[in-house]
Amino acid sequence: MIRNSILIASLFLGTAFSFAQQYGGMWIPTEINEKEMKDLGMKISAKQIFDTNKPSIKDAVVQFNGGCTAEIISAKGLLLTNHHCGYGQIQAHSTVEKDYLSNGFWAKNMNEELPNPGVTVDFIVDIKEVTKEILAGTEGLKEAESKELIKKNSDAYIKSFNTESYQKIIVKPMYYGNKYYAFVVETFKDIRLVGAPPQSIGKFGSDTDNWVWPRHTGDFSMFRIYADKNNKPADYSKDNIPYTPKYFLPVSIIDKKENDFTFVYGFPGRTTEYLPSIAIEKIMTETDPARIEVRDVALKTLDEKMRTDAATRIQYASKYASVANYWKKWIGEVEGLKKSNAVDKKRAYEYQLSSKNPALKTTLSEMTQLYSEQSPFALNNAYYGEVIRNAETLSLANRFLNYMGAVENNKLDEKSLASFKSFLQGFYKDYNGELDAKVTAKLLALYAQKTPNRFLPSDFKESFSNVDKNISTIENWSKNSFITGRNNLGNYNITKDTETIFSDKKMLVEALAKDPFVLLMTQLRDAYVKNTDSQFVSLQLKIDELQKKYMAQLMETDKDRKFFPDANSTLRVTYGKVKGSNPRDAVEYNYQTHVAGIMEKYIPGDYEFDVPKKLINLYNAKDFGIYKDKTGDVPVAFTATNHTTGGNSGSPALDAYGNLVGLNFDRQWEGTMSDINYDPKLCRNIMVDTKYILFIIDKFADSKWLINEMKIVK
Ligand code: ARG
Ligand code: ASP
Repeated sequence: MIRNSILIASLFLGTAFSFAQQYGGMWIPTEINEKEMKDLGMKISAKQIFDTNKPSIKDAVVQFNGGCTAEIISAKGLLLTNHHCGYGQIQAHSTVEKDYLSNGFWAKNMNEELPNPGVTVDFIVDIKEVTKEILAGTEGLKEAESKELIKKNSDAYIKSFNTESYQKIIVKPMYYGNKYYAFVVETFKDIRLVGAPPQSIGKFGSDTDNWVWPRHTGDFSMFRIYADKNNKPADYSKDNIPYTPKYFLPVSIIDKKENDFTFVYGFPGRTTEYLPSIAIEKIMTETDPARIEVRDVALKTLDEKMRTDAATRIQYASKYASVANYWKKWIGEVEGLKKSNAVDKKRAYEYQLSSKNPALKTTLSEMTQLYSEQSPFALNNAYYGEVIRNAETLSLANRFLNYMGAVENNKLDEKSLASFKSFLQGFYKDYNGELDAKVTAKLLALYAQKTPNRFLPSDFKESFSNVDKNISTIENWSKNSFITGRNNLGNYNITKDTETIFSDKKMLVEALAKDPFVLLMTQLRDAYVKNTDSQFVSLQLKIDELQKKYMAQLMETDKDRKFFPDANSTLRVTYGKVKGSNPRDAVEYNYQTHVAGIMEKYIPGDYEFDVPKKLINLYNAKDFGIYKDKTGDVPVAFTATNHTTGGNSGSPALDAYGNLVGLNFDRQWEGTMSDINYDPKLCRNIMVDTKYILFIIDKFADSKWLINEMKIVK
């Protein structure tokens, strides 16, 4: 007891996080810091986390539909992930009569579970380091030749396996290509929706509370994996049976305490923790602000309309949320990079290491030179990318341009045509051409104002710098263009008669060649490709080559530091402690929120902060069952120092014994720079408390049958 508290005190106070996780850490499960995890309180072994011979925790952790993480919590393949990860499926099953987004959905038994064609979950069966095999023969080769050989070696390595139809081998570079790892993956395809709370629980606080602590979102939904009669992956069939997992996670409803050990197991998407100071400076002062600026304009324009028109609000809700998500993240990221003195700290670190290893100094000065050279191209790349992404009509025109290119080059296959047509059907359902004409007009003006002439099509600056003029031009184009669906092509409308219009390729391509948006997009794209893209990319290739060298030099010079590879959507373990924070002067955040806080935020009828009647009743009656904690209320969410990123959503948060204690879904705003510069003082991951999840399933959804499947740890 005493020994432990001394250890904790020295870790978190005195020596200011002088443990490996001071830089964060997303560890490959076969290479975790078992000793440090145990020092911090872990009671299980590394083998229990990842074992290829015996069932281990990894057998309960899956990548959900390519982007999120999910975990198995029963012997019948019951799967837990975030509400925002299952959102598309919940939405797809919803109609006006059966509005599962608004009212929630709860299957009463397995027969009522809903299939989701196309949804997959991936298990990682094995991980092997294959650096030798992949880099064989590459020494001394030029970058381009080396790349080619690496590709050849990977293909040969992958081919050497006898895989089943449901298995695949993925080879991934780590440490910027200094190492390579192979992953054996098994994919299940019959994944059924089991339950989801209403949005007023699963998305409570919506965009206002997104990335924010204190948080009160019950961001969870439930699915089930189905398998064939032999428990193997199979396409959907009504004869499939619930999957019997090799392992599933016990669910703990024991109270949490500050400093409790936790680890998060999942599929973090992308981080860049080893960038040189110059790169961070460019992100902080140039590219992030450019991206934020474009989205500011898009979001304000959408918001004006969404506030006054309920139909638009529903139609654009999901799109708005997705644009706002990274907009808000980048704002937090810039703030956090400033606040954590990221650039100065990196510079000091580089200086210190360069004195030990002069070769590092050379690499860094070459990188500084390249980043400076790339800077104007990178800025244009950021503006161009964001303008096209957020001006929907332009990105639509861009897709039609791709289609025309494929037709002209005879490269249009059936599969990509079908996927383009199905994209269009989805697109037009949630597209408001009149509203987007405004967004497009404003973004074109911003692009004209912010971009040096040398990157623009000729006369573009003169023609498009004025917002009011753009609005009338673009509105006029939009009304008369058939790609917006506001005008017909002959007797047909692209939004309804897609098949007919695509059946006459020649006519379609001729009409597209005259469309004003397609014409403008052609000019913009040609200018971008000619003036920016080739320079941007060729400089980036040189930067990548140096980044690989820099990474290797860092690792050989800073011998005391334990390095982990940047996130790349592969399975990782991160660990830390349940912790509040002190992000600003005089501001102290507690590590835990409660249902009382939901009631404090409650705004009746509000689209973000409404609360379901039944939850209010349960709260008023204090009908909390076994799910209240020592305060007498049910805990809703909590924070810890685990280093997480996008893709970790839905990841299990586990306690010292490997029991599920929370469901990861977000980070605290002041620490969103953790993707570039993890700072243990400011960075916190946010998890839904398992007590709240079980409380909602049991008391709110009356779905005891699901609780009965689980192994509850009390
Ligand atoms: N910020 C979280 C993540 O990056 C949650 C996003 C979903 N919620 C939302 N309001 N957009 O994915
Ligand atoms: N919300 C993120 C996700 O969906 C997690 C994060 O960025 O912290 O993966």
